[in-house]
Amino acid sequence: MATIVENELDSLKNLKDSFVRFMMTYKFALEEVNTKINILKQEFQYADDYNPIEHITSRLKSPESIINKAYRKGFDLTLSSIKENIRDIAGVRITCSFISDIYKISRMLQNQKDIKLIEVKDYVKNPKPNGYRSLHLIIQIPVFMSNRVNDVYVEVQIRTIAMDFWSSLEHKIYYKYSGEIPKELKEELTEAAFSALKLDEKMENIHDQVNKIKKHSQFEQSLPFEGPLQITEEILRQIQQNKE
Ligand code: GTP
Ligand code: MG
Repeated sequence: MATIVENELDSLKNLKDSFVRFMMTYKFALEEVNTKINILKQEFQYADDYNPIEHITSRLKSPESIINKAYRKGFDLTLSSIKENIRDIAGVRITCSFISDIYKISRMLQNQKDIKLIEVKDYVKNPKPNGYRSLHLIIQIPVFMSNRVNDVYVEVQIRTIAMDFWSSLEHKIYYKYSGEIPKELKEELTEAAFSALKLDEKMENIHDQVNKIKKHSQFEQSLPFEGPLQITEEILRQIQQNKE
């Protein structure tokens, strides 16, 4: 009798160990994607003097939500089935200023050699009937572990501040009413989504106009020496000399 219980405990322990390892790969994948986006953010800041990435948030789906989603969608409750079918266990959300930034960031991520694009859902060009807009990418990235490489799915949502503002509120309301939002409120939300779209278009337009002016005056700018890296004009001249 004792051995049956012991065996059962052993197999539960093994299962827990596999599950913890399973979740860890998603945590590492999130860290990798976060690092990639932070590098883009800093590089943008330096090269363009303008940073399209406003903020980045990431989340790991809880084990409970993973199991609930697998049940709801009728997937097998094995780790390999969950890995293949539930592709939003690791989620990253990037908020940017303008609609054009969404595609700029998306292109930059897709151009990275170790990122494989699996799926694109463009709710910016094709908003959902309720007015929801965002660009969703499912990507796959390799996570190098001590004894194996795991290709891990990550869901990346890219949206403007206005889109984010709208979807956070809609999400809260949706939960408050358990998905059954009263008709008038629903209509108001769709109207608000339209206002957010108009705001995005207006901001993009202003941004374009300002950009044109900036391009003209760039010629008058001098080289920004010093800064946090302490690169003086003298150091630069020495590098130049070494090259020749
Ligand atoms: P899930 O099975 O829920 O992940 O949806 P899906 O597989 O149909 O994917 P989809 O790309 O449509 O949505 C994925 C995620 O986008 C959701 O988990 C939300 O974070 C977000 N999302 C999609 N639609 C809406 C919406 O109408 N309102 C809000 N606030 N968020 C949404
Ligand atoms: Mg989801």
